[in-house]
Amino acid sequence: MVASDGGSPVIHGDRARLLPSPFPYQGSKRRLASRILRLFPRETPVLHEAFCGSAAVTLAAATSNPDLRVSLSDLDANIVNLWRAILENPDRLAAGYGALWEAQEKDPETFYYEVRGRFNIHRDEADFLFLLLRCVKSAVRYNKAGEFNQSPDLRRRGTAPSRVTKNLRWASQLLRGRSSIQQQEFENALTVAKPDDLIYMDPPYQGVSAKRDARYLVGLDPQVLVAGLEELTRRNLSFILSYDGKTGDIEHGERLPTDLGLTHLYLDAGTSSQATLLGRKERTVESLYLSPALIARLGELSPRELATPQPNLPLAQ
Ligand SMILES: C[S@@+](CC[C@H](N)C(=O)[O-])C[C@H]1O[C@@H](n2cnc3c(N)ncnc32)[C@H](O)[C@@H]1O
Repeated sequence: MVASDGGSPVIHGDRARLLPSPFPYQGSKRRLASRILRLFPRETPVLHEAFCGSAAVTLAAATSNPDLRVSLSDLDANIVNLWRAILENPDRLAAGYGALWEAQEKDPETFYYEVRGRFNIHRDEADFLFLLLRCVKSAVRYNKAGEFNQSPDLRRRGTAPSRVTKNLRWASQLLRGRSSIQQQEFENALTVAKPDDLIYMDPPYQGVSAKRDARYLVGLDPQVLVAGLEELTRRNLSFILSYDGKTGDIEHGERLPTDLGLTHLYLDAGTSSQATLLGRKERTVESLYLSPALIARLGELSPRELATPQPNLPLAQ
C-alpha cells in the first residue's frame, strides 16, 4: 500500500515474517527489513552492509536469496568481534552467555557491573553479548574513552540461554561460508564494491549524531556522509540509505542535498512510542534514499511504483 507524504511516496507495512536476531541492538532494522528488500534488484551477487550493527537487512536478504554473498562492516570493534564469534563458533559464544546468565542469579545488579568492568579491560565477546542482552533498551553507550557505560535493566533477567543459542546458530548457519566482516569506516569498507553489487547503509541518524554520539562508539558528521555518498554515486554504485525521517510533522534532521540526485522514499515505521506516551497517535516515517544507479537497475519504475510490491522484484516472505 502506498500513500504520499509531502511528495515522497510512503512504503507501508506488510505481513512479513519477523526473523530472529542473534543479538538485540538499538536502531535495528528488523521490523523494516522485508520492506527494504522490495528495493533490491533481482541480480545482486554481493550485498555490502556498512554500519551493519545487528545486520537485520543482511539477515533478511540472505534468507530470501541463498546465492547472495555478504560483506559486513562497522566501525565498532566490539560489534565486529561479536559477529566473528557468531560466524566462527556460535556454540562457544552461547555457552559463555549461558554461564553468565546462570551466574547472575544471586545479585544481578552487582554481577552486571562486574561483567561490565571486566569487559572494558578484556573485551570478551560473551561478556559483550551478555551486556547487550541485559542493558537498558539493548542500547550500547560508550564514554569518551570508549568504555561501555550503559546501565543494567533490572526489570528483567535477559533472554533465556536456549533461545539465544538457537538464534546464534541460525545466524551463523545462514551467513557462514558466504560472508566477511571487517572493522572499517564505511568509506573504506565500500572501496571494493562493484556496480553489480548492492550497498545498504543505516548510519547513526543526524538528529542525534551531529556532535559526539554516545549511542554508538562514534557519531557521523553529516558532511562526511554526504562526501561518501557523492563518491559512491560517482562510481555508479547501487545503494539504499536509511537516514532520518519524521514523527507526525516533525522532521528529524535535514534532508540530504538534492544535488546528490537520490530518489527519496518514506518507510512507515509505525506509531511513535514517545508520542503514544504523550497521548498522541503520531506515526514515525523513516527516509530511504536510492542512488541513480539503483534506480536505473530497477527499470522504469516511478518512486510511487517502487513503494508498492512489484512482481519483478524479489519480495521477502
Ligand atoms: C543505526 S546503527 C545500525 C543498525 C543496523 N541497521 C541493525 O539492523 O542493527 C549504526 C551503526 O553504525 C556504526 N557506525 C557509526 N559510525 C560509523 C562509521 N563512520 N563507519 C562505519 N560504521 C559506523 C555504529 O557503530 C552502529 O553500529
